Amino acid sequence: GAVDVDEILAFAIQLARDAGHMIREGQAGIFASQSTTQTKANAVDLVTEVDKAVEAFIFGRIRAAYPSHQFVGEETYDGQVITDEPTWIVDPIDGTTNFIHGYPMSATSIGFTVGGVPTVGVVYNPFLDMLKTRLPLSGRPRPLADLGQALISVDIGGSRRPSVLSSRLSTFEKLAGEPEYGGKMVHSLRTIGCASLNICQVASGGQDMHWEIGCWAWDVCAGLCILTEAGGAAFGGKHTALTGQVDTELLVGRKYLFVRDIAAGPGETRLKIQRR
Ligand code: IPD
Repeated sequence: GAVDVDEILAFAIQLARDAGHMIREGQAGIFASQSTTQTKANAVDLVTEVDKAVEAFIFGRIRAAYPSHQFVGEETYDGQVITDEPTWIVDPIDGTTNFIHGYPMSATSIGFTVGGVPTVGVVYNPFLDMLKTRLPLSGRPRPLADLGQALISVDIGGSRRPSVLSSRLSTFEKLAGEPEYGGKMVHSLRTIGCASLNICQVASGGQDMHWEIGCWAWDVCAGLCILTEAGGAAFGGKHTALTGQVDTELLVGRKYLFVRDIAAGPGETRLKIQRR
């Protein structure tokens, strides 16, 4: 049947708040019991029982309310492709490393696509009780004269292989370095370790751009919906001059920032999921 976007948004907001309650309680439980953390792809790819329990909770609620919809979640992902069907794309805890450390920058990220396009996005940080959805663009009012005036968030990411790591570090260097040495000398770089919150921070104006390699659809789906509704833009793939790395690169920012230094090609909001 037809999709009622307002109803789905209201449902997703309540769901994110309820998940947030579980996340706060779950963290308290982990800290009280000093239970151990599990790893996935490598020693810095972390997951807890709380991630899994929250995803199961979210999936159950969606299944009950919208039995015909598709679901893709970080903890249960097994290679599904995002189709044109109404699809929920969920990261129960984006920023799991922060969650484990008690660094209060984690969020439940609930995205919803139709035709592969992010259509509803809710990002909720339960530690700061911060809910993001359909944001008007705020923050610094004027377009920046050049990239050098930008505040840009980045992430060190999960893959620490030399090929990927050196590509990241060289981008950091190009962004931060002095022009004399080929750098853009941006105002500064930030890293908070939560892709969805970074994208929302761009959407609400406190940061000018976010750049990283290696995001999954559940890290970005909700955030990209919020970003584009606020007038921002996202570029994936080959469209930046900052690095030779292709395919899994993500760059988000306000539209005007892409005009010169960064973007050479059109934006891309249709979600593609990476292969593990
Ligand atoms: C990760 C975090 C991290 C970002 C990665 C994400 P997770 O999500 O958002 O900051 O750099 O791209 O995968 O694994 O904590 O849900």
